[in-house]
Amino acid sequence: MLRDKVVVITGGAGLLGREFLKAVIENNGIAVIADINEEEACNTKNHLGKNLNTTEIAFVKLDITSKSSLEKAIDYISEKYGRIDALVNSAYPKNKNYGKHFFDVKYDDFIRNMGIHLGGYFLASQQFALFFKKQGYGNIINIASIYGVTAPKFELYARTAMTMPVEYAAIKAGLIHLTKYMAKYFKGMNIRVNSISPGGILDNQPDSFVNAYKEQCLNKGMLDKSDLKGTLIYLLSDMSKYVNGQNIIVDDGFSI
Ligand SMILES: NC(=O)c1ccc[n+]([C@@H]2O[C@H](COP(=O)([O-])OP(=O)(O)OC[C@H]3O[C@@H](n4cnc5c(N)ncnc54)[C@H](O)[C@@H]3O)[C@@H](O)[C@H]2O)c1
Repeated sequence: MLRDKVVVITGGAGLLGREFLKAVIENNGIAVIADINEEEACNTKNHLGKNLNTTEIAFVKLDITSKSSLEKAIDYISEKYGRIDALVNSAYPKNKNYGKHFFDVKYDDFIRNMGIHLGGYFLASQQFALFFKKQGYGNIINIASIYGVTAPKFELYARTAMTMPVEYAAIKAGLIHLTKYMAKYFKGMNIRVNSISPGGILDNQPDSFVNAYKEQCLNKGMLDKSDLKGTLIYLLSDMSKYVNGQNIIVDDGFSI
């Protein structure tokens, strides 16, 4: 479904980014890991390259909060392949104080995390869209979250060290709206923009949390990271050619 499409995945060395890379390769696309963590990215590239028996994975070091880093990455990728079909925004920048409970969040940390995450997604989208506009086509997929759609179910976190950070709610709600804003702004430019809002993804959370979470869902509960692949491929492919400005929720019904 993605034959010869060049797909750039920010945060490509991360939990979801790695799955997205696999999905692109499995569908005959060309995947570019665009990540700030060079070591993890090289490990990912080598590991996936061997496992999937492919040379169609490239790496470019990228900081989504730096305009010059984005410009360099876009130049490098477009020269290497002669085109860029899509950008998947899946980086997860956060500062060291990220994730505290509401009353413990300092104003500076709130602003900083909004800036590097939502601001970084804005900057990456803006810079790629400039390239897409010149190229005549493009596709942007933002990884948002159900917590940008629905209010947190705090009771799920009650007996754990986790919480649902206030910055995250603001970032992801903002990102879903930014997606619609950009889709509309790019009218006539042949650039589409959509988001995916995943529910919770299994990643060694305590059993009590996973069980309580499942009670809020319809069949499976928390999802495996591979459960998002189908939606990503659909949005990257021409099958969704006229899907634009949408947010697709993949959460086993958690948010309804
Ligand atoms: N994991 C989940 O349960 C879940 C659920 C819903 C939504 N999401 C969203 O999915 C996206 C990916 O999450 P994840 O769990 O894979 O995160 P992760 O922490 O596993 O990976 C994030 C990657 O982003 C990279 N990164 C951080 N700052 C960067 C920067 N400035 N520039 C470029 N790369 C940078 C990191 O090096 C890392 O490889 C995020 O937007 C997250 O909010 C995750």
